Amino acid sequence: APTLLWGGRFTGAIDDLMFQFNESLSFDKVLYKADLHGSITWAKALRKLDILTDNELQQIVTGLQQVEKEWEEGKFVIDTKSDEDIHTANERRLGELIGAAAGKLHTGRSRNEQVGVDMRLWAGEQLEDIAAAMKGLLSVSAERAKEALPILMPGYTHLQRAQPVRFSHWLLSHATFLKGDLQRLEGVQERVSSCPLGVGALAGNPFGIDREFMAKDLGFRSVHPNSLCAVADRDFVVDILQWASLLMAHLSRLAEDLILFSTAEFGFVQVADAYSTGSSLMPQKKNPDSLELIRGKAGRVMGQASGFLASLKSLPTSYNKDLQESVEPMIDCIKTVSNCVRITQGVLATLKIHGDKMKAALTDDMLATDIADYLVRKGVPFRQTHHIAGAIVRRAEEAGVSISSLPLEDLKGISPLFEDDVAQVFDFERSVEQRSTYGGTSSSSVLAQIEAIEAFVKN
Ligand code: ARG
Repeated sequence: APTLLWGGRFTGAIDDLMFQFNESLSFDKVLYKADLHGSITWAKALRKLDILTDNELQQIVTGLQQVEKEWEEGKFVIDTKSDEDIHTANERRLGELIGAAAGKLHTGRSRNEQVGVDMRLWAGEQLEDIAAAMKGLLSVSAERAKEALPILMPGYTHLQRAQPVRFSHWLLSHATFLKGDLQRLEGVQERVSSCPLGVGALAGNPFGIDREFMAKDLGFRSVHPNSLCAVADRDFVVDILQWASLLMAHLSRLAEDLILFSTAEFGFVQVADAYSTGSSLMPQKKNPDSLELIRGKAGRVMGQASGFLASLKSLPTSYNKDLQESVEPMIDCIKTVSNCVRITQGVLATLKIHGDKMKAALTDDMLATDIADYLVRKGVPFRQTHHIAGAIVRRAEEAGVSISSLPLEDLKGISPLFEDDVAQVFDFERSVEQRSTYGGTSSSSVLAQIEAIEAFVKN
């Protein structure tokens, strides 16, 4: 039977299926670098306690660097009979490379703290990448919004034409959600960056290991304050999964809009070939698969969030093996989110924007509110003007014409306050430009939003 790291008190061999069931190396090997760096820091802390000599520290550090090189070059050979997880695999290999000194590395340390350190180091680095990618996505959104500033489109509520807005304003509405995600990410990163090293299996470290030193050496922002909690703490994974769920909800809403807008029926935008795929049967097809995948993967991430939270529920104090179930969803979620952000950026950067189609979709009835507002400016209470404008819409519908084609006499018949200048109301550009307060759809308000996003990204 293979010698397992913890096999001293065992007489029987582990069942084959149980070994496979228990192992995590097949997925936690992505943590190899974090694991090795955590061990180097641990060895340095043991040196400070004189548990290691200078020479032993030297051997261990060189050995761990050698192991890292093997992983990097794809030369690390996994022992499928004994390597249980990334921690045992790295330690086993270190022993083969440097001999006896390797046996001192794990002094006072538990895999329970090690796995927490590895996951947090890895996630911290990945989240920084994702933050940078999200800034890239925001930059592209701002760029496209600036370039498309003159384009007007129908704004919708309930997917029914509502009021004219700038296409840029629509794009920035999505960017605004994403900006919120980036702001929330900061809090997630803060909680990820808490160092559990030095808490032992559950009770703490008996050798007086310098936890502050280790946290600093590994670039953590804080030291985890309770050993029992630290080995049980996967709140940072829940944080990541829940944060990602909302981000994915936002990306899926943008994706859904773009899928709809790219149909022949709308024709507002066209997704570039680079982000589309064809049909194996219908030669004419070009499908927005990139966006459909993003929409679909939102469900995957939300499932991971609720799934892992269910695993966490009712666990007894401190470490339980159930916690290993946090590793796969964390790794997969981060990879999914990272891809979705980058793909969204690519789709937006290459999107063809058909301003003519959007303009053609604007209808005069979308200015009914502006008619009501015209009378408000003449002192009529809005509740009345709403009814009057409604009557105009009805009259136009009955006559089978657009509200802008009704003769002035008809309008005067509905309200004597209508005058020649009502003709000015039937102007989409004017309607949009009137909405110039903070956050509105006028060009000045949209430009201010673009500048705010640009400033936010630079920060
Ligand atoms: N692979 C394990 C995990 O992800 C590492 C910790 C193992 N600790 C233990 N006591 N079995 O949680």
